[in-house]
Amino acid sequence: MKNKLTAARRTLLAAPLAAAQTQVGKVVEKRNASNAQAGLYASIAAFWEPHDREMLRSLGMKRGTRVLDLGCGRGDHLLLFAEMLGGGPAVTGFDLRRDSLDFAAARLKERGWPGRAVLRQGDLYRLPFAAGSFDLVWSSHVFHGLPDVVKAADAVHSVLSAGGRFALRENRVTATLLPPDIGVGETGLETRLNEAFDRWLQRDRATRGRYPHGWLHLLREAGFSQVTARSFLHQVTAPFNAAQREYLHYWLERKQEIEGIKPTDRDLVRRITDRDSEQYFLRRDDLHYVSVSTIYSGTKT
Ligand SMILES: C[S@@+](CC[C@H](N)C(=O)[O-])C[C@H]1O[C@@H](n2cnc3c(N)ncnc32)[C@H](O)[C@@H]1O
Repeated sequence: MKNKLTAARRTLLAAPLAAAQTQVGKVVEKRNASNAQAGLYASIAAFWEPHDREMLRSLGMKRGTRVLDLGCGRGDHLLLFAEMLGGGPAVTGFDLRRDSLDFAAARLKERGWPGRAVLRQGDLYRLPFAAGSFDLVWSSHVFHGLPDVVKAADAVHSVLSAGGRFALRENRVTATLLPPDIGVGETGLETRLNEAFDRWLQRDRATRGRYPHGWLHLLREAGFSQVTARSFLHQVTAPFNAAQREYLHYWLERKQEIEGIKPTDRDLVRRITDRDSEQYFLRRDDLHYVSVSTIYSGTKT
């Protein structure tokens, strides 16, 4: 069915940066790194980098902090950890997917930092690390997709040192960009798109195994103390640079594929993301992108 999201696209829309990079990366590989696709990948990373950097800086790492990037994917945060911590190997990237780890390894090599990180493939429910191996476990956009978050939090707890911290990053609020009235079609397009997306996300989450509590509860139940949440705002305001324009075009264009949206809304998204249209959204000077990431963290005592 045309309006059904493919599994790949579902992931893409579910976790703005991480998944987008994963899926785009796949396309890059499939099309043998055509310039356009490689450029898009770089634009996505560039769009998010200031936000990622701000979040990671807040973690209070010092040289010598042993970091595990759990579910590191293609390595955006891994690269930042490698840059911030220097020396090496200071950070371990762990992921189920070999192709993602290979991609991350290539990026580390490109920067001239192959020795700054160790990459390990495996399932996070069976972490191949001794108890107390890490001072910080960072896991970004991973837990919301796991079938058993309790078991996963226990696994994290076991590999942390006493005094070590677990930082779990999830996006809580759907990003917004458009004003309520975009001057074409029915008003409130973005609200409807976001509501449809949230409905789909909750249904999808429930099929993976329910956890009827928030992340703070999960961390406390796993034995962490000083459990807290801190949110970070990523806002980008017009006029946008080339990388921001490329990312935002890509981000909005895909919204026409959200399951359950009205055909008129699908057409509207198509129309405002048509570069030749008078209503092309990036002709506007009043766009303001806002997204919120939250880091839920706790200390092992
Ligand atoms: C949405 S991506 C997030 C990537 C990265 N952390 C980021 O924020 O850019 C989720 C990652 O978790 C990994 N993952 C999912 N289940 C896993 C498991 N059971 N063990 C290890 N990694 C897993 C996936 O392979 C994927 O790379």
